Amino acid sequence: MLEKDIEKVLVSEEEIRIRSTELGKVLTEEYKDKDPLVLGILRGSVPFMAELIKHIDAHMEMDFMTVSSYHGGTKSSGEVKLIMDVDTAIRDREILIVEDIIDTGRTLKYLKELLEHRGAHVRIVTLLDKPEGRIVEIEPDWTGFTIPNEFVVGFGLDYENHYRNLPYVGVLKEEIYSN
Ligand code: XMP
Ligand code: MG
Repeated sequence: MLEKDIEKVLVSEEEIRIRSTELGKVLTEEYKDKDPLVLGILRGSVPFMAELIKHIDAHMEMDFMTVSSYHGGTKSSGEVKLIMDVDTAIRDREILIVEDIIDTGRTLKYLKELLEHRGAHVRIVTLLDKPEGRIVEIEPDWTGFTIPNEFVVGFGLDYENHYRNLPYVGVLKEEIYSN
């Protein structure tokens, strides 16, 4: 039923699973003695976070933050707002931010600076990177897939808060936006 709204699949369910397993191995090595705080950015990171942490064989804690930079639609407002903060002490803590996508870079730059200002050591893993969209300077430490500058949905990513539950990442049909 959702599939009929999708123009093309960019990253399949299997590709996501394989890549998450690979990243999990790398992150296990990186974090095995660090007891990191794995910090998911709501709401888009939830499916990727769930897939990824299964493959990280190390002690960790989990927490979530909510920020907003998009108001519905497909264009960023350019302004990042903190909606829900972490509930964990973070001074001197190793934090691994888990994000769905980096586009302009504003969200992650804001978050990284905020957490570093509070004394945390911060690194970033993102499912998707759209380097052509970058406006501010920030790079993820680990990336699942680099994608072209297209608006995507699925595996956490939304259009007007829908399509997050698609098991893959795809591009919506033009007619969905124009409705
Ligand atoms: P910035 O521009 O701050 O973007 O790097 C990060 C946030 O913007 C959202 N975003 C998208 N959401 N499809 C989406 O569903 C996209 O193609 C897309 N590009 C950016 C996303 O919420 C991300 O956390
Ligand atoms: Mg997001």
